[in-house]
Amino acid sequence: MSEAKRKTTAVSKEELNIQKQFTQRVNSVINANYSQAPLACVITYGCQQNVADSEKIKGMLELMGYGFTENRLEAKLIIFNTCAVREHAEDRVFGNVGSLKKYKRENPDVVIALCGCMMQQKHIADKIKRSYPFVDLVFGTHVIHRLPELLYRAITGGKRVFEIPDMDGAIAEGLPVKRDDGSKAWIPIMYGCNNFCSYCIVPYVRGRERSREKKDVIKEFKELVSQGYKEITLLGQNVNSYGKDLVPQVSFAQLLRELNSLDGDFRIRFMTSHPKDCTKELIETMASCDKVAQHLHLPFQSGSNRVLKAMNRHYTREQYLELINYARQLMGDELSITSDIIVGFPGETYDEFKETLSLVKEVKATSLFTFIYSPRKGTPAAEMDDPIPAEEKSRWFKELTDLQEQISAQQMALHKGKIYKCYVYGKGKLADNYVAARNDGNLIIEFEGDESLIGTFQNIKVIEPLTFVMRGEIVKEK
Ligand code: 5AD
Ligand code: SF4
Repeated sequence: MSEAKRKTTAVSKEELNIQKQFTQRVNSVINANYSQAPLACVITYGCQQNVADSEKIKGMLELMGYGFTENRLEAKLIIFNTCAVREHAEDRVFGNVGSLKKYKRENPDVVIALCGCMMQQKHIADKIKRSYPFVDLVFGTHVIHRLPELLYRAITGGKRVFEIPDMDGAIAEGLPVKRDDGSKAWIPIMYGCNNFCSYCIVPYVRGRERSREKKDVIKEFKELVSQGYKEITLLGQNVNSYGKDLVPQVSFAQLLRELNSLDGDFRIRFMTSHPKDCTKELIETMASCDKVAQHLHLPFQSGSNRVLKAMNRHYTREQYLELINYARQLMGDELSITSDIIVGFPGETYDEFKETLSLVKEVKATSLFTFIYSPRKGTPAAEMDDPIPAEEKSRWFKELTDLQEQISAQQMALHKGKIYKCYVYGKGKLADNYVAARNDGNLIIEFEGDESLIGTFQNIKVIEPLTFVMRGEIVKEK
């Protein structure tokens, strides 16, 4: 089948060339106004997808001539890359942007910009327009690649720029990326989400699923390996549906197998998996591919089948357990499972919450990401009756985190005496002569070792599991 039949398209070469021209134009304006590179501060909220987007934003800014700072009060350009998944994240953005009012008044040449998922919601963009007049530029999730043009308009046009098209977004290949870390890297393999879980804003702000072409993913992956990156995480809201929109179709398991077969010493991670699309083939692939981390982040959200149905999750507690049991059967103790849980979904009863607790006991995750339900405007769950008071939800939440703390401690204890292949990523904290390493399950093991080991994989035996890290020692043979 021809490329033309594909539902989604790439951003055109012409468009990317136009942006290159704007990059030059911003650079000229900067050179005319500043004797040395002005600093940009990019502040990122939310998930790894946003972290990856910010790395692209920084890549583009670097080409425009900006330097970087973590201190917003010395920056000439401040960009907030926002998250809309929960209200708390949104409140923090409003607070932090508000606190820049005085700085902007005293430094009118400073540009303040907002982007990311929060901006893709009309009521939020309207509020920024109305109540935050010192914000110069707002752009949505689908036009990040047009930052050079939008920034040029904001700094030369004398008018505020709001560019938030409501569309599914095309994929821009070849954008520059300024990575935050020298050994760990992110590769978004797909964008958007088709699932419409009833509580979640993501499908509304990130559009429908679109996969990057497999050849583009492999090309970026190979470049990272040749640059010395050792831990590469494939990103998507639902990586298990990677490639369903490609022509010809590709499965995520197939992508993993191809990446696993590349030469080099590296580890492949991926997130997030949706249980409804997590296939046995994927689990078997994880088990058989030596470079794929034996770590499965598989959010179950709730242990009650009624709540799962109301969440529109399309799997049952029993199906979830079947997947986990199969994965444990194939990967044994090496496998680390992590998950996301929402407490206090509208209409959830205490008995239903107890079903979540009982599932937590059965799953025995290494760690959990737990959230109290936060209503998101425009989602079906936000319209549902929600009679349980916030204080009661907080009590349930505490019950859940207490339980998981016990389970995590028990799980940590099981590692004693085990030997893991670990990536040594930096200096340790337990003692001056210690270095720190991560195993497949993302657990940190510190051991006595020379700094020359940083950047290599080593076999480490766990001597003593502590609360958050483990103490280990290097061994020659696994
Ligand atoms: N309220 C609370 N948690 C949410 N999540 C997504 N939407 C909401 C919401 N409205 C959680 C889910 C998801 C994780 C990324 O964030 O657990 O897996
Ligand atoms: Fe949100 Fe569900 Fe999509 Fe995850 S899979 S981003 S929870 S809609």
